[in-house]
Amino acid sequence: MKAEACTYVIYGATGNLSRIKLIPALYHLDVENLLPEGTKIMALGRRPWDQQKWQSEVRDMLEQKARGGIDEAVFQRFCERMHYHQGDITQAESYSSLAKTLNNSQVFPQNQTFYLAISPTDFANTIKFLSLSGLLQEDAGWSRVIIEKPFGYDLQSAQSLQKNIAKYLREDQVYRIDHYLGKGTVQNLLVFRFANTMMEPLWNRHYIDHIQITHSEQMGIGTRAQYYDTSGAMRDMIQSHLLQLLTLVTMEPPASMEAESLRDEKVKVLKSIRPIPKEAVHACAFRAQYTSGNIDNEKVNSYLQEDNVPEDSVTETYAAIKLYIDNWRWKDVPIYLRTGKRMATAQSTISICFRQPPSQFFRDTQIKNTQPNWLLLGIQPEECFRIEMTVKEPGLEMKTRVTSLDASYRQEGEHHTDAYEDLLLDVIEGDNSLFLRSDEVELAWKIVDPIIQKWAQEREYIATYPAGTWGPEASRAIFDQESHHWRHNLTPESD
Ligand code: BG6
Repeated sequence: MKAEACTYVIYGATGNLSRIKLIPALYHLDVENLLPEGTKIMALGRRPWDQQKWQSEVRDMLEQKARGGIDEAVFQRFCERMHYHQGDITQAESYSSLAKTLNNSQVFPQNQTFYLAISPTDFANTIKFLSLSGLLQEDAGWSRVIIEKPFGYDLQSAQSLQKNIAKYLREDQVYRIDHYLGKGTVQNLLVFRFANTMMEPLWNRHYIDHIQITHSEQMGIGTRAQYYDTSGAMRDMIQSHLLQLLTLVTMEPPASMEAESLRDEKVKVLKSIRPIPKEAVHACAFRAQYTSGNIDNEKVNSYLQEDNVPEDSVTETYAAIKLYIDNWRWKDVPIYLRTGKRMATAQSTISICFRQPPSQFFRDTQIKNTQPNWLLLGIQPEECFRIEMTVKEPGLEMKTRVTSLDASYRQEGEHHTDAYEDLLLDVIEGDNSLFLRSDEVELAWKIVDPIIQKWAQEREYIATYPAGTWGPEASRAIFDQESHHWRHNLTPESD
């Protein structure tokens, strides 16, 4: 797809997301010569900074993040693209003054992308103001808006936000971002499933026993208490990233890679997920909060000791959930999603456990139980595709061990690109296949809503786990079968 020059307007340009992800991603696109010629970046912030100060801030950001260090020639070019505009997003005048500046088509391409890296409570008003100041009109070029997560706080608020923004934007102008869809390993999942025929006959309830999707972090909540304490792990990770991963693992092959075909298939999965009634929440979902503990031999605080966390908070920093997809392919296959902060290791993985062979041929030998086959998809930090098989150990005895077939994603010397690079480029190219459609977001809320409502009522007690561990044993309560256990590792398990 040929990209046209555009003006990338970043609301919240001095904030964390912009520092850590957006500015470095745009810079890396520039390094790769992927920003169309003439592209400009307009940074919006409240601070009264001039051009020079902004450039020195950008240098700071890139010093931490630029791959292989800052390339001075590219940095020069990058700075020429950059403009800083001071403004308060709650004030109408700041939009009209921005509009006045951007209307200068000699300097700014009239295709415009607005990235809202701001508090979710400001999404609706910012879009309204953008529209009132004429910035969303498409007379001289296209206009697209990127909305960060969370889109809403529950089903009702997501619907009301959608209603508000639909007054000013067509659906194809809205890019609801879930950065997991920009990760190379996640996209590789689609390639793995749909560019190879080997797995497809096995990809169903006849061969797969259960699926686990895990995202664990060693980090705590850092300085984000204000957001996190009102969110919790279920909203922060499961409603968004992990449900997205689930749709990609389980959806039917789309008719094409065209955006609507892909999104239609994801929506079908979300619609087929068996609803969890409030009375079944305890059987299907588990939450917990970290207490103090050790991470990499350093003592770390409990959640309740983190800055700005209320002392009686029962916000979950760990959440696990069991889902079933009631369709022909997946009926009765449990799918477990779990996530946690301050866990033993940091990793995102999809682990698919195959059924045991129908009979144990080796009953009368030294081999008692063979391990089931697992397919392990490491999303980060280890990026791998691994199939575990049972093989005979060399020697005269009939003994077995597990070995793995490795189809790893990146080869030595191939560099990592950040998810945001891919997604920021997609927006310029007008490709919204890796962004969420409004029905997708609402269906995802519908799935988790009964759980968050039930948890909101239960304010007396929350299970705990020491920081640096894999979460409470009691989370086993959601398992469908006694033999199920959390798969923590990407290396073969011993008996
Ligand atoms: C964000 C969550 O969406 O994703 C964070 O708000 C979480 O709490 C982060 O840490 C994880 O993203 P990644 O790319 O680091 O796995």
